[in-house]
Amino acid sequence: MTQSLKLTSRVFHRFLWAPELGASLDSPDSDSAPRSLADIPGPSMPRFLAELFCKGGLSRLHELQVQGAARFGPMWSASFGKVRTVYVAAPALIEQLLRQEGPRPERCSFSSWAEHRRCHQRACGLLTAEGEEWQRLRSLLAPLLLRPRAAAGYAGTLDKVVCDLVRRLRRQRGRSTGPPALVRDVAGEFYKFGLESIAAVLLGSRLGCLESEVPPDTEAFIRAVGSVFVSTLLTMAMPSWLHRLVPGPWDRLCRDWNQMFAFAQQHVERGEAEIARRNQGKPEGDMLSGAHLTYFLFREKWPAQTILGNVTELLLAGVDTVSNTLSWALYELSRHPKVQVALHSEIIDTLGQDSCPQATALSQLPLLKAVIKEVLRLYPVVPGNSRVPDKDIHVGGYIIPRNTLVSLCHYATSRDPAQFTEPNSFRPARWLWESPAPHPFASLPFGFGKRSCIGRRLAELQLQMALAQILTNFEVLPEPGAPPIRPMTRTVLVPERSINLQFVDR
Ligand code: HEM
Repeated sequence: MTQSLKLTSRVFHRFLWAPELGASLDSPDSDSAPRSLADIPGPSMPRFLAELFCKGGLSRLHELQVQGAARFGPMWSASFGKVRTVYVAAPALIEQLLRQEGPRPERCSFSSWAEHRRCHQRACGLLTAEGEEWQRLRSLLAPLLLRPRAAAGYAGTLDKVVCDLVRRLRRQRGRSTGPPALVRDVAGEFYKFGLESIAAVLLGSRLGCLESEVPPDTEAFIRAVGSVFVSTLLTMAMPSWLHRLVPGPWDRLCRDWNQMFAFAQQHVERGEAEIARRNQGKPEGDMLSGAHLTYFLFREKWPAQTILGNVTELLLAGVDTVSNTLSWALYELSRHPKVQVALHSEIIDTLGQDSCPQATALSQLPLLKAVIKEVLRLYPVVPGNSRVPDKDIHVGGYIIPRNTLVSLCHYATSRDPAQFTEPNSFRPARWLWESPAPHPFASLPFGFGKRSCIGRRLAELQLQMALAQILTNFEVLPEPGAPPIRPMTRTVLVPERSINLQFVDR
């Protein structure tokens, strides 16, 4: 039961929270004695539940962070049953917390996913593993993904995928009512791009997501990712005994994960057979490199189940993250034509019409980098992260006991007017020449430290390459008369409605 409450509390409290006292909390004086958890203000349980369940709170968790900071100040806490979560919504306090991390930080944000692995005898991947298992996986995967040179090595592979994306966008124009260059639901197109790219990097094979006829199993995989993100919030909100009485969400979560595992298994086995075929008769040292991540994992003699767990989770991680960021980037550029013109000039002046720019050349485009930073500030894919400290720590004048769930309110800090002038406006220039610079922990889209995003370099490369190629080929315009689109939480932050854009040939 305690465990159930803990899970319930985790999801409710991960991103938030809100109301009631209307009191503002200033950090306690630095010279006064540290105070305890009980001294941190927070909302009452009935108000908390009402906000969540009566006003669509689960899809507004990111907004509830902002409300919580406005009502209680930079730190507040909320309890569900016996479990208390502490919310931190000030960059300096987030820094204080993250700098006290041990060697194996615990995030604990996907506990229903870990439960699925336990119940279905599946191996955890990097997203869900904790402790020593996580550390072992991380030390093996980081050199293959996170080192800038390793990620840059995937540029050739990614360029082919980006060229296919441009071709597909051309084909998708004018398929329904509206202007002839209109593509409806660009996020749907970019999900296919995300999956195709990450599969090419991981498996060395092309799935065909960007062809005219999309293979049904890849469509099914993308649907399963979306569905898992919806049921994640629900299953974590329900105590596990309730799964038996109301089995729908938990069954759906398991069905979707099993489908993703089966998809990954089929492609990993196919890749393994292909490597074996190509290397047949060759001496060990002379083997073809395979040049994709799964090949290296097999070469390191990882157990098949561990490879599968990691490939499945990396495939999932690669779909919604890059695609939503790309959708928001083009949405904002379409509504800010001057920025788009400046970015187009920067790209053409520096790269010409180069179809496969080097990763190093791309990273030297300051406006392109600023646009991506600004998009991730406004729309952080992971709007709220979490940590469970393995020792007592001091944050904002309070002692946070070990094993307390601490929620980091990244959405609130990245829209904080004290850090960013006009915080709700898209202004990439703020990252180029404006001062004073914001606190370095105000916008942390890829997290921080030992547990930060392992796909960061790859994601940045994908975003830079895709934006450079799309803007080289098209002027991107909004759908005429379309109202602004707001983000909503679906575990990750997504557009609340389809983003439709015009891709006009240059
Ligand atoms: C715009 C794109 C992306 C964003 C904004 C993003 C963001 C994040 C964030 C915030 C975390 C949690 C970090 C922390 O707890 O400190 C994370 C973890 C992770 N991401 Fe990403 N991500 C992106 C793309 C990707 C891609 C493409 C992959 C796949 C290669 C990936 C794989 C992972 C994995 C495996 C973890 C867990 C790392 C660990 O626990 O050691 N991400 N990501």
